[in-house]
Amino acid sequence: MPELQRLRADHAPAILDFELANRAYFAASISDRGDEYYDQFSERHKALLAEQEAGIAAFHVLVAEDGSVLGRFNLIFAGDGIAELGYRVAENAAGRGMATAAVKELCQRAAQQYGLRTLRAATSRENVASQKVLTKAGFSPAGPADPAHIGGKQGSWYQRNLAAG
Ligand SMILES: CC(C)(COP(=O)(O)OP(=O)(O)OC[C@H]1O[C@@H](n2cnc3c(N)ncnc32)[C@H](O)[C@@H]1OP(=O)(O)O)[C@@H](O)C(=O)NCCC(=O)NCCS
Repeated sequence: MPELQRLRADHAPAILDFELANRAYFAASISDRGDEYYDQFSERHKALLAEQEAGIAAFHVLVAEDGSVLGRFNLIFAGDGIAELGYRVAENAAGRGMATAAVKELCQRAAQQYGLRTLRAATSRENVASQKVLTKAGFSPAGPADPAHIGGKQGSWYQRNLAAG
């Protein structure tokens, strides 16, 4: 069974493999990270760990039994019990309910471990798979998102009140 693990330093090589293998797949639905991201991956990974340590965010990877990374699920704390959720799942693991299961698990952790009350995620109108994930995980549409937030596209915020279970 894949396991949702909090980001650690030793996840770096498997995450880089995941990002490189799926770069074109992700770029079809969300903004490409740009060459700089891959060139400076090691520094970027350390910066994420520092943010996590500082309590600004909580990052998670979905790890397969062989240690490969199947997905990433991140919470950026926005204050006032609210966090913004972001995620991506490998092309070769898509369509098997991985994202939905991990988002549901993260909702539980968000309430129990991080003391959050509300999760929000912005998704573009064309990203039907992401909208399905959010709906299946108990999120509801919550108004238009600023295109600057989703790669210049039109889209919506989705929100889930964690207290509602
Ligand atoms: C969105 C994403 C995380 C979904 O991951 P996943 O593990 O395949 O998701 P799940 O299997 O849990 O659910 C996907 C649902 O979308 C459906 N779906 C997938 N592609 C679709 C498409 N092009 N049109 C309509 N529905 C689609 C699946 O059938 C499934 O719905 P179902 O359970 O009713 O059959 C993954 O595609 C991804 O990483 N995409 C690129 C990054 C991204 O878009 N991140 C989200 C940013 S908001």
